Amino acid sequence: MATMESLIGLVNRIQRACTVLGDHGGEGMSLWEALPSVAVVGGQSSGKSSVLESVVGRDFLPRGSGIVTRRPLVLQLHKIDGGSDYAEFLHTPKKKYTDFASVRKEIADETDRITGKSKQISNIPIHLSIYSPNVVNLTLIDLPGLTKVAVEGQPESIVEDIENMVRSYVEKPNCIILAISPANQDIATSDAIKLAREVDPSGERTFGVLTKLDLMDKGTNALDVLEGRSYRLQHPWVGIVNRSQADINKNVDMIAARRKEREYFETSPEYGHLTSKMGAEYLAKLLSKHLETVIRQRIPSIIALINKTIDELNAELDRIGRPIAVDSGAQLYTILELCRAFDRVFKEHLD
Ligand code: GDP
Ligand code: NA
Ligand code: MG
Repeated sequence: MATMESLIGLVNRIQRACTVLGDHGGEGMSLWEALPSVAVVGGQSSGKSSVLESVVGRDFLPRGSGIVTRRPLVLQLHKIDGGSDYAEFLHTPKKKYTDFASVRKEIADETDRITGKSKQISNIPIHLSIYSPNVVNLTLIDLPGLTKVAVEGQPESIVEDIENMVRSYVEKPNCIILAISPANQDIATSDAIKLAREVDPSGERTFGVLTKLDLMDKGTNALDVLEGRSYRLQHPWVGIVNRSQADINKNVDMIAARRKEREYFETSPEYGHLTSKMGAEYLAKLLSKHLETVIRQRIPSIIALINKTIDELNAELDRIGRPIAVDSGAQLYTILELCRAFDRVFKEHLD
């Protein structure tokens, strides 16, 4: 019996194999684009990287004030049956990272390798895979924050450059948008909601996430937003309490942070009644459930695309001749195998 988890796992592996082969889109609809992924969108320091970390349940992203995320990070989570967590970068294929502090350092170093130590941005993505028994199969994309003004050392065009980069991800119909807005700013001025509304007017693929609930002015609360009265989306809003900068400086770990977040909601006089629908763990479940629904709806079109890909790969293999010793040939075989497995699992699933 095929489970939805195994299907999403296969989607993930095909996306990864396509990435290795260099299928980043190009002409027409690529398999990569046909498969759903989740992108975080929001203003600078709204808490995008923090939310992603919390959804993953691991500390591994550079976070902080200012422009920390300066290249897209395409993060694939792969659920494994057992063993301990490890990570791999596409740009260092032979290296397995088991220490997540060094994953964070490598993201920062690899960002600098392309952008220099300046505050420049680059639209060349960093590809990272995390393998763990404790994740849900998901592809997540961390993006630079939307901004209104260039800072010292940045070209004036940066405001538009970032917006265009972010838009190029979220305008794809298969992109699920995590629109991050901080609770200590007026929702009417949210860059995330503005862009999400532009590319997804019906709100069917937008998840509204409200961060920094703990930083709101005393005497105010975010119930109007969280209960959908301020800005209605098709999916429920999720409130989040991430680690503060002080927590980060004190190295408060993920388990402690999640506990603190849970306690915050449980003991909150305003949000107590919403406890079961708030927080990063709930957001992760919501996303994974939504992904299931999307994949189910897309089964026929994904099968068609998979079959087309199988045909193209077969033709490509014929062209280069078999047997193949070179790496790319091996990669083609891998994708072909994955596609066949996918096709098989889908059919079982439909039975
Ligand atoms: P990004 O720029 O949108 O990726 O935001 P980061 O995740 O890097 O967070 C920016 C800063 O805001 C960091 O110092 C975080 O500690 C802080 N921060 C993010 N979310 C929260 C939150 O929910 N509560 C508090 N107190 N601080 C937060
Ligand atoms: Na930041
Ligand atoms: Mg960030």
